[in-house]
Amino acid sequence: MTSNAIFETHIDNLELLARGKVRDIYAIDDTHMLIVTTDRLSAFDVVFAEPIPHKGELLTEISNFWFAKTSHLVTNHLTDLDLSDYISTDDYQLLKNRSIIVKRLKTLPVEAIVRGYVIGSGWKDYQASGEICGIKLPQGLQQAARLPEPIFTPSTKAEVGDHDINVNFDDVIARIGNDKANQIRDKSIQLYQLAADYARERGIIIADTKFEFGVDANDELVLIDEILTPDSSRYWPADEYRVGISPPSFDKQFVRDYLETLDWDKTPPAPPIPADIIARTQQKYQQVRDILLG
Ligand SMILES: Nc1ncnc2c1ncn2[C@@H]1O[C@H](COP(=O)(O)OP(=O)(O)O)[C@@H](O)[C@H]1O
Ligand SMILES: [Mg+2]
Repeated sequence: MTSNAIFETHIDNLELLARGKVRDIYAIDDTHMLIVTTDRLSAFDVVFAEPIPHKGELLTEISNFWFAKTSHLVTNHLTDLDLSDYISTDDYQLLKNRSIIVKRLKTLPVEAIVRGYVIGSGWKDYQASGEICGIKLPQGLQQAARLPEPIFTPSTKAEVGDHDINVNFDDVIARIGNDKANQIRDKSIQLYQLAADYARERGIIIADTKFEFGVDANDELVLIDEILTPDSSRYWPADEYRVGISPPSFDKQFVRDYLETLDWDKTPPAPPIPADIIARTQQKYQQVRDILLG
């Protein structure tokens, strides 16, 4: 299994535009690009040397599933261009299940985060101020408590290597204007609501999630990147959820738990990850895929 993990891609006939932490991005033409989701694992914003076999395929499948399910709510970046028309047969066979050809858009400089529960940086902010991103919350909430209703808690995309910073809605307006700010807030909450309801019926809590948006040549809003995957969201098994503790997360729990046992300061270089942690992490991604799409 490990032998067919893909850490990095090399497509000779396309121009490489960027390698993100997880995705390799190539130009198709002036208005389209190819996004290949590799098996690279990042945790605490550090990329590890060991890939998780098939993770890129599982993430692509999960994200595409959600794009299809939500296309009535918001236009997304997917196109129906046929990848086999643009790359060699060998590359196509290798990459088809982890690739999407998308509209090449101007990205909006905001991470559109929606939270249904108080956890992570939201929990930290709430403890310090009773608020998250300027939104006043009820007093006395415990860690991992469910919020009365989902809230929009944007952050700004940090420079490479930095962690994202939570910002107030007014900051979003200052960056992208009143109309776009309201649109991404409303759309993000609708998307979260739909997905959280669907997942909840199948025993998964989506505690929070992050969307990215772009604008096309007509300045119309488009949903981009990956959506509602275990990499862009906190997925909790509903039967293990309890208020007051940080519930075990469905995705990278073995990796994160393992990393917390190390004397590692969470900056590069990344420590090696043992094979059994890799295998169990892969199983988790597979499990999420099977529960949601099975
Ligand atoms: N349709 C699109 N148009 C332009 N940029 C996009 C589009 N979809 C995704 N992106 C960008 O491509 C990158 C995806 O690669 P990824 O490995 O997730 O990067 P990161 O390390 O920033 O998370 C992100 O920077 C994202 O903003
Ligand atoms: Mg990303």
